[in-house]
Amino acid sequence: MTVASDEDPHPEEPKRLALPDAPDDEGKRTFLKIAIVASGLLAAGAAGSVARSLISPSPPAASAPTTFPRVKVATLTDLTVGVPVIFDYPLDTEPNVLVKLGQSATNGIGPDGDIVAFSLVCQHLGCIWGFLPTGTSPPCNMSYKAPEPVGYCCCHGSVFDLTSAARVVGGPSPRPQPQVQLEVDASGAIYAVGMGPPTIFGHDTGSSDVTADLQGGNPVG
Ligand code: FES
Repeated sequence: MTVASDEDPHPEEPKRLALPDAPDDEGKRTFLKIAIVASGLLAAGAAGSVARSLISPSPPAASAPTTFPRVKVATLTDLTVGVPVIFDYPLDTEPNVLVKLGQSATNGIGPDGDIVAFSLVCQHLGCIWGFLPTGTSPPCNMSYKAPEPVGYCCCHGSVFDLTSAARVVGGPSPRPQPQVQLEVDASGAIYAVGMGPPTIFGHDTGSSDVTADLQGGNPVG
């Protein structure tokens, strides 16, 4: 797998993350868990779409909703620092990662302001990136050690600082990752209620209207 310094000769073709066979530390396992689960969600969604199209003709196109769904995605008491939770939002084929970082983060929620969530679809060319706790390495680049909790995309080496709204701190991504807007209620239930800009990769119409994220699929919920 190549990274930023070994640019892919065909960057116009998004690729899925290629994973090694034998991760041997917690960082690798976490990274692999995200990438595998997220890739499975995408594959399942794609397969489901194909199957549905073969079984019955597509219904007439309905106008896309203009408000984001409000969906429970986690519970405060179930979260452990550094252990990611994967969920689809706002469409049922779009994976995101929610994680309690263990340190204050931009737009973080919860009693410690450290719970954040982001789209896992890389803003560079649409690969699925993985979460790296501080001090860990991605399986594709053992020479890299995360200086803070980051997202690392093994396709071309983009790095996103998850404590700072997923700003780009390495690699070719032209934009940060879209941040999921979260709310927590009095019972500790955590809800996804919207997406912050930029639009999720694949939805970029050139418009600043973030509801472009709701076009092209089935909203969750
Ligand atoms: S798709 Fe190129 S760095 Fe993520």
